Amino acid sequence: MMNREQAEIRISELRDLLNEANRRYYVDSSPMMSDYEFDMRMKELEALEQEFPDLASPDSPTLKVGSDLSGTGTIFPDFPDMNSRPGRAKGSKSKSVRTGGNAKEFEQYPHKYPMLSLGNTYDITEVEAFADRAAKSIGNAFTYSCELKFDGTAICLTYRNGKLFRALTRGDGTVGDDVTENVRHIGNIPQELKVPEGFFPTLLESRPWPEEFEIRGEIYMPWAAFERLNIERQRDEEQLFANPRNAASGSLKLIDSSMIANRGLECTLYHVLGEDLPFSTHDQALKAAGSWGLPVSDKRKICRSIADIEEFIAYWDTQRKTLPFATDGIVIKVNELPYQEELGYTAKFPRWAVAYKFKAEQALTKLISVDYQVGRTGAVTPVANLEPVLLSGTVVKRASLHNEDQMKLLDVHIGDYVYVEKGGEIIPKITAVEMTKRPDGAPVPHFPDTCPDCGTSLVRDSEEAKAFCPNTGGCPTQIKERLIHFLSRKAMNVIAGEATIEQLYSRGMVLSPADFYELDKDSLLQLEGWKDRSAERFLNSLSDSKKTGFEKVLYALGIRYVGESTAKSVARHFGNIDAIASASVEELLKVEDVGQVIAESIYAFFADEHNLNTVRRLKDAGLRFETDGAPANLSSALEGKTIVISGNFSISRDQMKALITSHGGKNSGSISGKTSWLLAGEKPGPEKLKKAEALGVPVISEEELMEICRAEEK
Ligand code: IVH
Repeated sequence: MMNREQAEIRISELRDLLNEANRRYYVDSSPMMSDYEFDMRMKELEALEQEFPDLASPDSPTLKVGSDLSGTGTIFPDFPDMNSRPGRAKGSKSKSVRTGGNAKEFEQYPHKYPMLSLGNTYDITEVEAFADRAAKSIGNAFTYSCELKFDGTAICLTYRNGKLFRALTRGDGTVGDDVTENVRHIGNIPQELKVPEGFFPTLLESRPWPEEFEIRGEIYMPWAAFERLNIERQRDEEQLFANPRNAASGSLKLIDSSMIANRGLECTLYHVLGEDLPFSTHDQALKAAGSWGLPVSDKRKICRSIADIEEFIAYWDTQRKTLPFATDGIVIKVNELPYQEELGYTAKFPRWAVAYKFKAEQALTKLISVDYQVGRTGAVTPVANLEPVLLSGTVVKRASLHNEDQMKLLDVHIGDYVYVEKGGEIIPKITAVEMTKRPDGAPVPHFPDTCPDCGTSLVRDSEEAKAFCPNTGGCPTQIKERLIHFLSRKAMNVIAGEATIEQLYSRGMVLSPADFYELDKDSLLQLEGWKDRSAERFLNSLSDSKKTGFEKVLYALGIRYVGESTAKSVARHFGNIDAIASASVEELLKVEDVGQVIAESIYAFFADEHNLNTVRRLKDAGLRFETDGAPANLSSALEGKTIVISGNFSISRDQMKALITSHGGKNSGSISGKTSWLLAGEKPGPEKLKKAEALGVPVISEEELMEICRAEEK
């Protein structure tokens, strides 16, 4: 038993911890603890608050739903009229590297009915207690609707006159983020409802659905889409999503709505709300919604007794492993709507429903050895080799150890028995060591000091706890991985298997992406396995790839931290490669989606002569290095100015020219009456100076030019 003082300290600790865990889970889409651990800590806090009621607080996480609101947001106080256009993101942005920089702020609207959470338990006797309470309170015969608990992110859709009007996230339960535009890209959410077969309009009922109603449910990412997304993110060395739930909530809040369509999100709806709805049971409401074309799960059952409920739970506890999406439990709801109303709500939960949660699956197996793998950008990752073990339907042989810090934290030794769990990783992760089974003298694996591939001394990135091989230009694995990335589907989209690329690289025919475009048929035919047709197909595909848009070309260059969406933002902002190459870190930071780490990485990439040379050669090969439309200028400070440059500057002459165009100016090679300024660096050409003087063209210095550009940027 704790005394009051101890309880006060523990309560405060738990509130801080749970508030932080809620923020990481709902806002960052990057959880810091398992759901089980979270639920257990919540129960501990609830018990303490009950034991010491004077220490209760209305701000406690036990009384509030976790908030997914993206920022401070602007709250639109009323449910706006039918003509307003919801769903547009505000202009402001927030920058983040951890989530891939995709956070944005949304307009916020109040929920018509509070959007609450569900009481949950891992203990079947608590489900029995729930059923007993409900039965006592209702006092009549009633039924339960048992459903899957979809592991995604909650959504509230409003339909007006049969059209999708607005989509709000749960937010803090009172106010939600308006994600309507993004939701319009989710394939199975209808923009318009359908009239069910057999419905005939009458004077009283001209349409089958209420004029306005809300339907709530979950947006989730099926396993296959989730695995595909994480494979792509691993390739890009972007932070992986920890689980499909986080991937769904992160995707739902993407800046670029059009990217959502590719994420494979799906929706299932499980709660209809509105004024004077013509249903007497929850089941009727869902069936009607299904008949209007709304996605409603058929994995439901009307149960009449606790035995029925337990059977449903037991069935899905095993069958869930065969589902193409994640479920974390079963929701048990009182089916009759008048009884739901009678039972009502607490501040946080309905009293008419409860969730029984499944525990995450774990397996115990032996750690045989640790491999250290080098990635495209040189990051070295420890990967555990395990004695094969069955976990959620697949045999697991390898597991991620993340980084050296994680290895130390887990305190793994070779020969240990370790717990593995499937999380968001491509391969499962080790979550703990079974210390009681450690063999005597089990050796500690030693994280290497040098690159396992090329032997170069590794450098440690303290912020990310990662080790990198700095031999970017010479480390074979990095070069090969970059070449694979360059041709990959989301980059240049050239049809070539990894084995082909490996062959071309090991024969020394392709060392840089630019070498691909200098290959010819004869040299390919010299290689083992190549025939006329395969050579032609490969060369044609390479030639077609020259039409690839600038955004993808920029992504293909494989700049560290520059994933698909960042490449898009950067390309659109600057308009051409020269402007990007000459941008300062400060200028790069102005791009939506770009934070300090990304800005520094882009800057460092273009400071490397080796990379500049590759870009030059790719440009000569005919790849596209500017966007289609007019480049989005940094400013229009130099609009209408024709500038001739002469001499040396603090940046290269190419960079200076790009800087001029990115501020709206024009470059010209020779001085004429139309020249606005002669920009003179160090040691300008005497001929040019003379001509400028003769024609009365003002001569300005680099410093003066920068001043002009800066003044406009402010
Ligand atoms: S009914 C008043 N049914 O689980 C709350 N919720 O952990 C009514 N969830 O907030 C919710 N599947 O986002 C309901 N079949 C289902 C569900 C479900 C998943 C989510 C929902 C809820 C959360 C609680």
